[in-house]
Amino acid sequence: KSDSTVGTDVSNSSGDLIKVGFSQVGAESDWRTANSESMKKTFSEENGYELIFDDAQQKQENQIAAIRNFIQQDVDYIVLAPVTETGWDTVLQEAKDAGIPVIIVDRMVNVSDEGLYTAWVGSNFELEGKKAAAWLDAYLKAAGKGEDSINIVDIQGTIGASAQIGRTAGLEAGVNEHSNWTLLVKTTGEFTQAKGQEVMESLLKQYGDKIDVVYCENDNEAFGAIDAIEAAGYKVGLDGDMIVMSFDSTNAGLTDTLSGKISLNTECNPLHGTRVEEIIKTLEKGETPDKKKYVEEEIFSFDNSVPSVTVDGTDYTVTQVTQEVID
Ligand code: AHR
Repeated sequence: KSDSTVGTDVSNSSGDLIKVGFSQVGAESDWRTANSESMKKTFSEENGYELIFDDAQQKQENQIAAIRNFIQQDVDYIVLAPVTETGWDTVLQEAKDAGIPVIIVDRMVNVSDEGLYTAWVGSNFELEGKKAAAWLDAYLKAAGKGEDSINIVDIQGTIGASAQIGRTAGLEAGVNEHSNWTLLVKTTGEFTQAKGQEVMESLLKQYGDKIDVVYCENDNEAFGAIDAIEAAGYKVGLDGDMIVMSFDSTNAGLTDTLSGKISLNTECNPLHGTRVEEIIKTLEKGETPDKKKYVEEEIFSFDNSVPSVTVDGTDYTVTQVTQEVID
């Protein structure tokens, strides 16, 4: 996958570059790396932009400092990928007072006044979680295990991030609909491979082979969890001891889905560069962009036992991963 519509020079008629300050969450995952690359590729000098890129290392205080710095530098636009949803009112008011439009990307902000930001584009994280839970339900039924007692552990993302809130909520909704599903524990893996592994090691010590399903809230957590499960002598996969579910569908995540280590991988698309640029181009023309825009995303599985899932009355195709899908 790649940005395909990059490349229109939008610099203004006097030839000045459009100055964009981007506060990025960090570099915690493969998804994040792809997202940063997408933003850098789109907001290049040859496309008419001067990009000031700030990596906040997963700390909100660093993001607030970066936004204040962008205001001081009098950028034309501030783009924020917020680490968590809350705590933005003050600094976004400062940007508004300075007359700088703020575009939120990826995760959402939870603010008292929606007028504190201009537009948002990102994923429907709760829908992603509901798709995953719907697949688990359909898979277990197709495998003749619909009535079995199922124990699930949730390795959550960064607590308070939209991606964690939505994916956890989607799973909880599924658990609430099944009296035979038990959510043994929810604990954060901070969206990183190292923490995913560490958390899984301790869950295995606590619950051992009682665990049937490991619901990882991103691919990097899944990579760490799989390492821990295999090191403890268990087999992952639909024909193994534990089913691993994941989100993102990065290249490495889909490769693990193709091999069967990850049974279900729900896409979270990171290629937001051109989507943010569309918002900026709309504003440059003096028009009003959509306030909120969800990205369409797919579902990838190891096998073909569940061709589609239904969530809130809508059907979503489940694609069996092949090498061509990854390429
Ligand atoms: O907000 C998107 C999430 O953040 C991705 O699922 C994850 O990999 C990243 O760290």
